[in-house]
Amino acid sequence: MEKILDIITEKMQAAFEKAGYDRSFGRVTVSNRPDLCEYQCNGALSAAKQYKCAPIQIAKAVAEQLDADDYSMVEAVMPGFINLKLSGHFLRNYLEQMRTEPKFGIAQPGAGKTIVVDYGGANVAKPLHIGHLRPAIIGESLKRLYKYLGYNAIGDVHLGDWGLQMGLIIAEFSERQPELPYFDPDFQGEYPKEAPFTVTDLEEIYPTASAKKSDPEFSHKAHQATLELQQGRRGYRALWQHIMNVSVADLRKNYDNLDVHFEKWLGESDADPYIPAMVEDMKARGIAVQSQGAWVIPVAQEGDKKEIPPCILVKSDGSSIYATTDLATLVQRMQDWHPDKVLYVTDKRQNLHFEQVFRAARKAGIVPPTTELEHVGFGTMNGSDGKPFKTRDGGVLRLETLISDMTDFVRTKVVENRIVEDSEVEATTEKIAMAALKYGDLSNQPTKDYNFDMERFAAFEGNTGPYILYTIVRIKSILARYGAWESLPIQEPANDYAKDLMLSVTKLGPTLEQAQKTSSPNLICAYIYELAGCVNKFYHETRILSEEDEQLKAGYIALIGLAKNILEECIDLLGFSAPEKM
Ligand code: ARG
Repeated sequence: MEKILDIITEKMQAAFEKAGYDRSFGRVTVSNRPDLCEYQCNGALSAAKQYKCAPIQIAKAVAEQLDADDYSMVEAVMPGFINLKLSGHFLRNYLEQMRTEPKFGIAQPGAGKTIVVDYGGANVAKPLHIGHLRPAIIGESLKRLYKYLGYNAIGDVHLGDWGLQMGLIIAEFSERQPELPYFDPDFQGEYPKEAPFTVTDLEEIYPTASAKKSDPEFSHKAHQATLELQQGRRGYRALWQHIMNVSVADLRKNYDNLDVHFEKWLGESDADPYIPAMVEDMKARGIAVQSQGAWVIPVAQEGDKKEIPPCILVKSDGSSIYATTDLATLVQRMQDWHPDKVLYVTDKRQNLHFEQVFRAARKAGIVPPTTELEHVGFGTMNGSDGKPFKTRDGGVLRLETLISDMTDFVRTKVVENRIVEDSEVEATTEKIAMAALKYGDLSNQPTKDYNFDMERFAAFEGNTGPYILYTIVRIKSILARYGAWESLPIQEPANDYAKDLMLSVTKLGPTLEQAQKTSSPNLICAYIYELAGCVNKFYHETRILSEEDEQLKAGYIALIGLAKNILEECIDLLGFSAPEKM
């Protein structure tokens, strides 16, 4: 469906033409004086210069050419603005089309296109901590948005599963249980199917090993183990596989709990096979050059405002690094999926890394000019004191702990307010907690830092996730009391509150389009906050179920039904859902 702005701009252009002026002056914008009108056209002011006459004269002549059916108000005002209010008839038709078309008739710019969304980025064998909340929540939401706009969206968790942390664990294990066959270089048999540790063991082993990094002997051992693992030492690969199996199962569980789901569970290790040929090719073609024993790709460009150092491809000791893996991963993604776009969601401190990788990938021709590369760098989630989140003893807070703290907080409210039957407390609590957590995050512009404030996020009033849920639940209960409503047609607005609500409904398409273009789920939050406000205002000012005129009542119900469907769709794009009662 065309956006309203496009429809009325087209009509305005036709009116300029009919009045004898160039159609290019007919651009309509959303009004910057909502107290006076809904839309406006300032084209007469520029046209006046070209046609050398008073702008108001042009505005009046053009206004006369507009179709009276479309507007409840058309005003040519000094010095030459055309102020517009849409007619109930126009709005009714537009909303009825939204109601009946799939996906509310919004445009599908992604039809036939593929996007890879690289988000999550968990590191194997390390528990998820609060630093993993934002990439999971923002990435999942952007992926859902792209899907909704018609893209074939492939979410890839891109696990950190190939670095030093693996060597650290292997080294630590070799000290604890040297008798295991994994450490015997001469062992030819089959390795045990069962892992020699549980996820709880791993959670203790990794920090212990990591703390020993300062011991030169142990550190050397860990680096050596990493290298040998990457070179394919059999026993280490077998042990690595155990670590993967145990850890990935746990990661899956944690992401599932967050309602975050990846299409692909690939990791840095999956890019490894692509590295040798890629590096050879870059050396042969002179894309990579030698610098102090390392191989680097110069990526500085004329006009750079700050210095962009070369992208390191191979370190002087022959090992590959983070950038090497990301380049090789792009080789794999292009080869397997031919994406039109690859979007990365990470902490904004990785901005430079991605700038280097993107430039290197373009320079080497790994990614064609037709494939877009974008990095969404997000800010830090701080504690309510505005300082980086820490546990009481100064450690990193685990994601599980954060979620269970929020869940406990919400549960207390649910129980105290006797919101639902005992048997439903848990399910309702989980939904509200998820909304509080995700909306609290997503309502901020991704690049901004924000303060995590449990009480504020979980409040049932104000700009919060629970408030949106509450609005949805309220509409659901009215609809349930009314009965079958799904096929009731939209009617013209019966009062100003209905009209405001209808106008808000029409903004769905432009909002989603803008949210995608700017990678800003916060725009969806702002939109549903406004929409929910319009619904509540309408509800307070209008007798809905007690309306005696059945025809009128059916129109009210159709309208709030459509608003509810849109709210539910939008929260799904944000990654949460509404309970039945609240
Ligand atoms: N594992 C990385 C980290 O913890 C994040 C990975 C992001 N994705 C990527 N393709 N580099 O920082």
